[in-house]
Amino acid sequence: MNTNSSGTPSHTEEQYDHVQSVFQSIANRYDFMNDIISFRRHKAWRKFTMKKMAMKKGDTALDLCCGTCDWTLSMAEASETGLITGLDFSPNMLKVGEKKIHEKHLENRIRLIEGNAMDLPFEDNQFDYVTIGFGLRNVPDLEKVLKEMKRVVKPGGMVVCMELSKPTWQPFKGVFNFYFQKIMPNLGKLFAKRYEQYKWLPESLALFPGREELASIFRSVGLQQVEAYPLTGGVAALHIGIKENRHV
Ligand SMILES: C[S@@+](CC[C@H](N)C(=O)[O-])C[C@H]1O[C@@H](n2cnc3c(N)ncnc32)[C@H](O)[C@@H]1O
Repeated sequence: MNTNSSGTPSHTEEQYDHVQSVFQSIANRYDFMNDIISFRRHKAWRKFTMKKMAMKKGDTALDLCCGTCDWTLSMAEASETGLITGLDFSPNMLKVGEKKIHEKHLENRIRLIEGNAMDLPFEDNQFDYVTIGFGLRNVPDLEKVLKEMKRVVKPGGMVVCMELSKPTWQPFKGVFNFYFQKIMPNLGKLFAKRYEQYKWLPESLALFPGREELASIFRSVGLQQVEAYPLTGGVAALHIGIKENRHV
């Protein structure tokens, strides 16, 4: 693992390709496995996040690393009329998402783009919300992605990250680490026939910043009013930051 200018860990190109191949390979079982390995807690995390975001009718959003589009769909439903954009670099994950969008007849409200979260194909100040769900842990340089998110969100708009995190209190921390490192990859093997791919999860979390550290990185890229919420005892975390609105 390399570090960027401020010392935050960044992946090599080889790891970038590895991450892409992991998601290409698990796409068809991704939703099913999410329910199993998180004991369906991810649904409660998503609900809590949507509440904190408090979207209004017509709001627009960009959902980075949208994968199979759970969050993208929730935002399309919440904003009622706004255009929601999902971006991901795995065509297989997007294909699963596309099917779900079709089933909900939301094709005219959601556009999906195959692309890299590190280098967004959008002008500055475009979206009311820019989100990333369980994706920041996977990108080559998380600080660069947060800067891109801040660039394309409108002044006064919200940058939101939902991500796995590290519980800090014992004995829960010990139990979680044992589950995450030893049991969870075996659940991947059992239910999705993918051991190596699910071993990537604890590996990617190992060097990812903890909740407070990630909140500091949000501030260091210039986001304001940063809030960080632990989810299920710190197994995951929600971070929110606002882009300065110079006109108020
Ligand atoms: C764990 S999944 C999360 C999917 C979805 N956001 C959710 O909440 O379930 C991570 C997603 O990030 C995507 N991803 C990882 N690195 C990326 C990058 N550099 N650019 C675009 N997508 C990326 C993967 O293809 C995968 O679909």
